[in-house]
Amino acid sequence: MERSPNFILVIFGASGDLTKRKLMPALYALYKQNLLSERFAILGTSRSALSDEAFRERIIEGIKIYGDKNAEEHMLHSFSKNVYYLPFDAAKNLDYPKLKARLSKIDDELKIEGNYIYYLSTSPNLFPIITESLGIEGLNKEGNGSGWKRIVIEKPFGHDLESAKELNETLLKIFEESQVYRIDHYLGKETVQNILAFRFSNGIFEPLWNRNYVHHVEVTAAEQIGVEERGEYYDQYGALRDMVQNHLLNIVGIVAMEPPSFFDATAVRNETVKVFQSFRPIKPEETEKYVVRGQYTDSTIHGEKISGYRNERNVSQDSRTETFAALKSYIDNWRWGGVPFYIRTGKRLPTRVSEVVIHFKKTPHHLFTQNNLCDVRRNQLIIRIQPDEGILLKFGMKMPGAGFEIKDVNMDFHYSELSDAYIPEAYERLLLDCMLGDATLYARTDAVESCWRYLDPILKAWKERQDIKIYGYPAGTWGPKEAHELFDNRDEDWRYPCKNLSTDGEYCEL
Ligand code: BG6
Repeated sequence: MERSPNFILVIFGASGDLTKRKLMPALYALYKQNLLSERFAILGTSRSALSDEAFRERIIEGIKIYGDKNAEEHMLHSFSKNVYYLPFDAAKNLDYPKLKARLSKIDDELKIEGNYIYYLSTSPNLFPIITESLGIEGLNKEGNGSGWKRIVIEKPFGHDLESAKELNETLLKIFEESQVYRIDHYLGKETVQNILAFRFSNGIFEPLWNRNYVHHVEVTAAEQIGVEERGEYYDQYGALRDMVQNHLLNIVGIVAMEPPSFFDATAVRNETVKVFQSFRPIKPEETEKYVVRGQYTDSTIHGEKISGYRNERNVSQDSRTETFAALKSYIDNWRWGGVPFYIRTGKRLPTRVSEVVIHFKKTPHHLFTQNNLCDVRRNQLIIRIQPDEGILLKFGMKMPGAGFEIKDVNMDFHYSELSDAYIPEAYERLLLDCMLGDATLYARTDAVESCWRYLDPILKAWKERQDIKIYGYPAGTWGPKEAHELFDNRDEDWRYPCKNLSTDGEYCEL
């Protein structure tokens, strides 16, 4: 794997959870694998008054908890020597010259030569002022030996189409599109990238990957956790904005895209954008036919009382924010015309699982159903994103013995079987790509806006029409039963997966 060039990574909002839980463990993992240049620095900034030393101690602690639990002290120590801290108020223009001076000092000492990444891990209302202030200080300028400058934006990228457009405008006034990296950590997941490899490096699946053979597609991202400490943010966003607009639609983009002509950022993203542009718009009056929303209510799981959403901290007592959303989407193009894509996500569901299921059409002629010996089942291909990452193909086989009784069997591949396979964390891959200037797995302006364009009418209908129901579901269940009604044919249903990829349909402890 290619090593990063020299760089300084500036993290805005460095005292937050993301830095501790995800960014620093990922940077340390890259360091440990020798994927970071000899000369690099990480400059954390936030309002907390911390010294370099205190910040280093904090991140070492975080790495031990959320990253490499067996990290060796000397490695942690040598990594942390590259970490610096600047107390800084991102909302104050006057603080930016301080940032510039600190950057230039570190740069001179380490001879970085001007390659800077600005990682915005702050509240989204600070994105515009940070961008503009970096521009005022000239910290966006590239060329003439001044190195490269890149800006990474965490989600939420806007609140709706209009605010996403405004944010894009602000960003693109100061930075070129090629400098902007809109991060979606789902695209950094090894198993999501593997969908590309699975589709385009094998001859056997792609011929079947279309409306002639596929009956419907399911994309699920289920979470067992509730909103935890994020009630304030979540109550303004909800599942559609938090998970569907970005993670789930990006997965659909990869599952449904045409093969790109090259494997590079422009070609791949051109193809996913075409998918987003082909989503059949959902008219406000059709919202209930295509979308079901739900909110978890109190329940008891294994004897433990679980609070309903409205009783979570910083959530309004009469909140109508959805913690579950299920959609039936159509992609109106030649490949997918008429094939429904069922998309579902929720918090406080029975288990944490993300997967894509391709349901193939039944055989055109059913030879083995005489005497009602068995049902004709669809073949399913399950691409498991997490946990128990792998791929499962379900198909019918003859039961040994007299007659022709057909039973579904599984052919499965689990990543865990590759004993030497190290599955990198999403942030590792994405941060390294950004250092290397590869934006293939980052979202482009047109992609973000197309996804909002598709979801905006739904959000608008929910906001304006009080008659559109939000269904309660007890925490620990698979969401409101109304989600089942999205299927045209009531014999069809969602897959109810287990933690383990190949034990679905059997009893499993969740
Ligand atoms: C984040 C959402 O983007 O993704 C969270 O804001 C969600 O609400 C998380 O919990 C899920 O990520 P993962 O990687 O645990 O599936």
